[in-house]
Amino acid sequence: MDNPYRPHWLRPLAIVAAMAEIAQKCRIPAVYRPLFAANIGPMSTAADMLKPLPGVIEPRWSPGTEVLPPDSYVIDCADYAMGESDLSPESPLARRMNRTFDEVGLVWLGNTGLTDLQTMRQFGKLVVKNEMRYQGGANPRDNLEANVYEVGAPLTAWLHYHHEMAYISHSTRMLGFLGHKAVAGKGATYVSDNLQATDVILQTEFGQKLKELGLCYHRNLTDRESFRDQPPIGVYNHWQKSMLTDDPDEAVKVAEGRGLEVEWGKDRLLKTRYYISAFEYFPLLDRNVLYSSVADDAMWFDTWPNVMHLPYDERPLALTFGDGSEMTRDEKQLFVDIYDRFGIPVDWDVGDVVIVCNYRFAHGRPGIHLEPGEERELGVLIGDAYQRVGDLDGKW
Ligand SMILES: [Fe+2]
Repeated sequence: MDNPYRPHWLRPLAIVAAMAEIAQKCRIPAVYRPLFAANIGPMSTAADMLKPLPGVIEPRWSPGTEVLPPDSYVIDCADYAMGESDLSPESPLARRMNRTFDEVGLVWLGNTGLTDLQTMRQFGKLVVKNEMRYQGGANPRDNLEANVYEVGAPLTAWLHYHHEMAYISHSTRMLGFLGHKAVAGKGATYVSDNLQATDVILQTEFGQKLKELGLCYHRNLTDRESFRDQPPIGVYNHWQKSMLTDDPDEAVKVAEGRGLEVEWGKDRLLKTRYYISAFEYFPLLDRNVLYSSVADDAMWFDTWPNVMHLPYDERPLALTFGDGSEMTRDEKQLFVDIYDRFGIPVDWDVGDVVIVCNYRFAHGRPGIHLEPGEERELGVLIGDAYQRVGDLDGKW
């Protein structure tokens, strides 16, 4: 697929932006960055180089009105000792967290006074009782500490709203985020009220098309061995890291076990396809909910270092309708806008613990640009796995 709204004359600019990103990461002083980037193509200013290319779609991340009353999902932990007794499943805090999760699908513990990631994890596990192994996942996700995953995405990239692991049959019911390191006023995560988003999208022609045609998720996973002596240009994730094996036959087995159709490409590129509804049946509310977004399209990489310079048809992800037809730019814009309309910012303090129902909320965030000395880091808990069923007849 070619990108209809990225003219090829813009590609040198994208390469410059990628080089500027590398310069920033390598702590090359800002004053020298234009010189560094100038060696490989045309440019304007250093600030321009770090902006996304014209024509790309970014959520506005600016909720106009209150989507949900904060007291329906925020728990002020100043009211609790946050000691050992609160970690009992029968404690008033545990009961309040679970009641809030059941009713709303979102729990935000604030003012916890916690600084230790493992203790935050223990509080998160009062709701996220079972955890799954992140196998078959798209993101290059490592462990931050024992039993706590990292986010698995570059800070500078914005992350479109998404439901975790919607692109394989083995998805998860819920997620936990732990505020390990935070900078006041920077680095918010956003969650979007998916029940409202579902109602609105189904009123549109695009929503009805999604309902009728379903989706195909296209993923190309690179081979770690092929990149052993090469810079990771164009790399999103290697199949070894995604499938948690170095054995190609085993990787195919894992992928097929996750409902994917598999094909090998040049240089042991693992190409997978997954056909499924754009919606998912949510048993608790006995209704189908939206369960897809542009995060699984090539546009996921619009600000992703080492990949953003590639034209859309060379990027590692693509999302089409289930009959293989492509979404128009207007359809993708609408997909982004609908989640955006129901976004709720989570401004992190160290110690915050946030639990998100993967059916009732999508999550994402703007790109984060830190100053020297600033740190922003979240731990991630991935809740228990379930087998996707797609939508069910009569449950709209
Ligand atoms: Fe995510």
